[in-house]
Amino acid sequence: MKITFLRHTIPATGAAALTVAAGGKLGPLGVKLDKKTGGAITRAMRGGKFEGKKGQALVLLAPAKTRLARLVLVGIGKPEDACLVTLQNAGGGAVAALNGKESAATLAVDDHKGMKLAAGEAAAHAAFGAQLRSYRFDKYLTKDKAKPALKSLAVAAAAQASARASYAALGRIAEGVFTTRDLVSEPANVIYPESMAAVCRTLKEFGVKVEVLNEKQMAKLGMGALLGVAQGSVRPPRLVSMVWEGAPRAKNKQPLALVGKGVTFDTGGISLKPPPGMGDMKWDMAGAGAVIGAMKAIAANKVKANVVGIVGLVENMPDGNAQRPGDIVKSMSGQTIEVLNTDAEGRLVLADAVWYAQVHHKAHTIVDLATLTGAILVTFGDEYAGLFSNDDALSEDLTKAGKAVDEKLWRLPLGDAYDRDLNCDAADMQNIGAGKAGSIVAAQFIQRFIKKSVNWAHLDIAGMAWLKAARPTAAKGASAYGVRLLHEFVAARAEK
Ligand code: BES
Ligand code: MN
Ligand code: ZN
Repeated sequence: MKITFLRHTIPATGAAALTVAAGGKLGPLGVKLDKKTGGAITRAMRGGKFEGKKGQALVLLAPAKTRLARLVLVGIGKPEDACLVTLQNAGGGAVAALNGKESAATLAVDDHKGMKLAAGEAAAHAAFGAQLRSYRFDKYLTKDKAKPALKSLAVAAAAQASARASYAALGRIAEGVFTTRDLVSEPANVIYPESMAAVCRTLKEFGVKVEVLNEKQMAKLGMGALLGVAQGSVRPPRLVSMVWEGAPRAKNKQPLALVGKGVTFDTGGISLKPPPGMGDMKWDMAGAGAVIGAMKAIAANKVKANVVGIVGLVENMPDGNAQRPGDIVKSMSGQTIEVLNTDAEGRLVLADAVWYAQVHHKAHTIVDLATLTGAILVTFGDEYAGLFSNDDALSEDLTKAGKAVDEKLWRLPLGDAYDRDLNCDAADMQNIGAGKAGSIVAAQFIQRFIKKSVNWAHLDIAGMAWLKAARPTAAKGASAYGVRLLHEFVAARAEK
């Protein structure tokens, strides 16, 4: 969707959306329009039980005495409580009401009394939310093309120039989000390790250095854990590093590493998953998808930080060459693993990917993202991603970034008692625990591949990657959870 900014006005014709505050309180633009219509807006709000609350929307068709075809009122709640996310959600709500009905519209972000946000910021974030909500993955629909997508949105702002300026960076974050949503939405016959690596290569355009390891190179490095997962698939694995050197001086050379689980399809392997819901496992690469989208946004915005994105790309399949339950593999770290359940494959991929981040890229901090356990869905549903970390400051920074962009995190504990669950007679460890505290035990497994001197956080995003119902700034389907969070986290650290 194309976003433009124009002066603070509601157009005479076409479709428009307008922000309204709590209690149905109209801003200056709203008051003017209401007068023109002889109070039609006020009457519609009363009749439609629209109170300007957050998340509320009301559609008026052809309001009296105007030549408008459609007017959408979107609530922002109390102006003094409105934050950036409030405006994003209002913009998203407007698009939700317009998409499929109009191809162009104007979104008027009114100048509400008491609003603490600067007018430019408010409008930019409304535009951002609108853009995020406009995303559709409909490329495979050959018949149902009747509904027109909203193709352009003009945002009317009191501070037009500053809105345009602050939207520039947000628009590039939205591009990253869309890349991730595309990757996560694509089926596994289209997105598999090699094709996903090809998407990573497109980041070169933004000044990112991209290094791709093939099977042979990984074997030479001793990545037996990752390769064990991959060996049941005819599609060869890849390990991709995306290096962004945005920090001004060589002083901070040691990078932050963002590591993603990229299982392009997870059948479970020989420990085969049951058929219902297996199709969901096309999005078992959402951690890697988020890392790719975040790297794109970080590089496009030229964030002043040294960051490397690393994605472990494999397909977990059960063929004649697949690894068996009970197989023992040797990870790049030298530690051996008895693979008691081939469906606990994400941690095997991450074991080698995080080790590579530490020895090859010398990362001082690692944040990994993975659709790692079904158990995290039982814990948090689709409200929070699970956060596990060996460092309080890192946890706080991530949690704070998550709050700022409305991609929430909640920290869960780690501890020796959970770690012991992984002890094993036949090898240094086994890849599953006894069945209790599944998400924590999975995190403990990854921690066995993190050096003591490295700050590390693991985000279990299995509950967040795919939305069963729409959110204000996302249609149902791929959410791209993590892209905005990682961009915010990296940008905030760069400013410190
Ligand atoms: N990719 C799955 C986890 C998952 C489940 C993600 C549902 C999204 C939705 C992961 O590889 C897996 O299969 N985990 C197992 C681990 C178990 C075998 C210890 C699980 O959660 O059941
Ligand atoms: Mn699995
Ligand atoms: Zn998996």
